[in-house]
Amino acid sequence: MHRLFVAIRPPEAIRDLLIDAMDDSPDFRWQDEDQLHLTLRFIGEVDRPVASDIAGALSRINSPAFELRIAGAGRFEQRNSGALWAGVEPKAPVAALAAKVERACVQAGLEPEHRAFHPHITLARWKGRRSREVADFLDRRRGLASEPFPVTEFILFESRLSRHGAHYEEVANYGLS
Ligand code: 2AM
Repeated sequence: MHRLFVAIRPPEAIRDLLIDAMDDSPDFRWQDEDQLHLTLRFIGEVDRPVASDIAGALSRINSPAFELRIAGAGRFEQRNSGALWAGVEPKAPVAALAAKVERACVQAGLEPEHRAFHPHITLARWKGRRSREVADFLDRRRGLASEPFPVTEFILFESRLSRHGAHYEEVANYGLS
């Protein structure tokens, strides 16, 4: 089985800015540079024929290139875990691309995704309760911002989980025009 997701990889200058926004707080598991991405659609475990149908459907997407910029920081919090992330603006073009990716996934036979799309780039995860540390981080990084950067492709990734965390491997990339 293959654990897949579709994402945008920010360019190196943006990855550098995001790495600089992290700190060495041991309260969080910070992402490595090569893990930084904006998920358009989490697919999960599929077998090879379905993976190949998804790759085919993604290759038929016709969508324009656009620009994004980093804008602010936020968090997703569950009872016993959570994630810190960098936000992006504007949301409309990336949401439009995510909707096309969603349609392609459904065409390839996946169940529709019912969760709302919140474009973000995860910076760190935590387990347990970190309310105070999270609030401090968000306070310090409220002004996180970048210049606009071009989004000219999106990528089908395979996630391999190991003791050392998740490793993301590019399976295919698809140009935007
Ligand atoms: P996250 O960064 O917000 O956690 C690979 O696992 C990518 O898919 C991660 O970026 C993760 O988003 C995203 N993702 C979305 N839904 C997921 C789920 N149910 N399980 C694991 N990853 C998910």
